[in-house]
Amino acid sequence: DLKRIELVKSKIGEFPDFPKPGINFRDIFTALIDGQTCRALKEVLINYVKKNHPSIDAVVGLDARGFLFSFTIASELGVGCIPIRKKGKLPGETHKVEYILEYGSDVFELQCGGIKKDQKILIVDDLLATGGSLKAAIELIQKAGGIIDGCLVVMELNALNGRKALDGFIIFDKIIMG
Ligand code: PRP
Ligand code: HPA
Repeated sequence: DLKRIELVKSKIGEFPDFPKPGINFRDIFTALIDGQTCRALKEVLINYVKKNHPSIDAVVGLDARGFLFSFTIASELGVGCIPIRKKGKLPGETHKVEYILEYGSDVFELQCGGIKKDQKILIVDDLLATGGSLKAAIELIQKAGGIIDGCLVVMELNALNGRKALDGFIIFDKIIMG
């Protein structure tokens, strides 16, 4: 998969000063414009999850770019696909938690009843920045009775120390690039 990873890495877009001055925005969608790169990323993800998280019960994707990968992985493995969404977007009763982002704060929600007690959950997202989003997601899933099997992102912004914020209490994986 190294060749595929190199291909994806080479296609990820970089946008200085977006959405605010001082933020160097890495854009996964730039990589997905190219069909061969889409397929390469899908294969890398699936191979990785089959090898490292073979017994999960469900995949949780984080709003919004995490959904691209949660459905891809869940449908391939034949396990559940569950969303964590930003406030006000999920119907029915929800668990809620507030979190801080690299450029602001927000509230994440998870529908009650989607995750069953002691189910093994893989969390996926496009990118780890400060770690605030993943931390909030972990809290929500644990509140719902789930067990975190791991957190998987395509990219990690090393300078922001997100891995440190998550230290000690989860298994963190990254597959593509720093
Ligand atoms: C981005 C990214 C991650 C999160 C990472 O999402 O997709 O979910 O920020 O940042 P953190 O590690 O500092 O928490 P964003 O909130 O911009 O949402 P979007 O996918 O809806 O654009
Ligand atoms: N790209 C995408 N999402 C983000 C980034 C980024 O560089 N930083 C914080 N969230």
